[in-house]
Amino acid sequence: MPKIVIANWKNKPQALVEAEELLEANENFMETGKNFGLVICPPFIYLEEAAKFFSTSRLSQTASLGAQDLAIDDKSSLTGEVSGAMLNNLGVRYVIIGHSERRWKLGESDAVVNQKLKTALADGLIPIVCIGEQSREDGFENIIREQVANTFAGLDGQAVGKCLIAYEPVWAISTNPGARPDNPESALEAMGVIRDFIKEKYGVGEISVLYGGSVNPANVRGFLGKEKIDGILVGGASVKKEDWEKILAIAAETE
Ligand code: PGA
Repeated sequence: MPKIVIANWKNKPQALVEAEELLEANENFMETGKNFGLVICPPFIYLEEAAKFFSTSRLSQTASLGAQDLAIDDKSSLTGEVSGAMLNNLGVRYVIIGHSERRWKLGESDAVVNQKLKTALADGLIPIVCIGEQSREDGFENIIREQVANTFAGLDGQAVGKCLIAYEPVWAISTNPGARPDNPESALEAMGVIRDFIKEKYGVGEISVLYGGSVNPANVRGFLGKEKIDGILVGGASVKKEDWEKILAIAAETE
């Protein structure tokens, strides 16, 4: 299976011209035809421009656009929100759901994340569902299982099977105080807990599980080198052009 590499730009860069430079860097790299799947998730404000860029460049053949969030439903009036239908109409294929910054810094409960996940599926988007414990302490496995159960509540195996999962331990996200990357072995342990639970509860034996949290050019090989790590979700390094090009180059070498 080709690995999946996801760029989560978060609320960066601050100017459209810088966003265009980043898109160009991705296009230049992807021109040669790579053996991994690339998903770029810019902030909402750049999505329309990114969609135009994609449609007139080879990126549309080698990469996909993702959003970082969506409105909880398409029918209510929700000031400031962007609906999944709008995203779909723009050509966005993926959407990040339940990122830890939305859960813990912006107060999204499991119930809200669950509803957004259902909306994303109804709107025909592929959810990238973020799961991760806040600290790696005894019993973290149960915290992960509970988060998975609440996040996927009410969905059947068919719906769960359409999702990608990003295991993102909150303590490893680069912008959190004292953050340090997980190591591939311990990430795999947590990912195993997620996979086993999904298999047991929803009967889904095959689901892509990616790692995210302080991925950088120095450690990316270790993560992508593991057969059972299906890809990476990269935040900070995805908007640093040099780091990102190094990460893409290493991803291209990894089978
Ligand atoms: P990071 O962010 O790579 O900067 O740790 C990952 C994420 O928050 O998705």
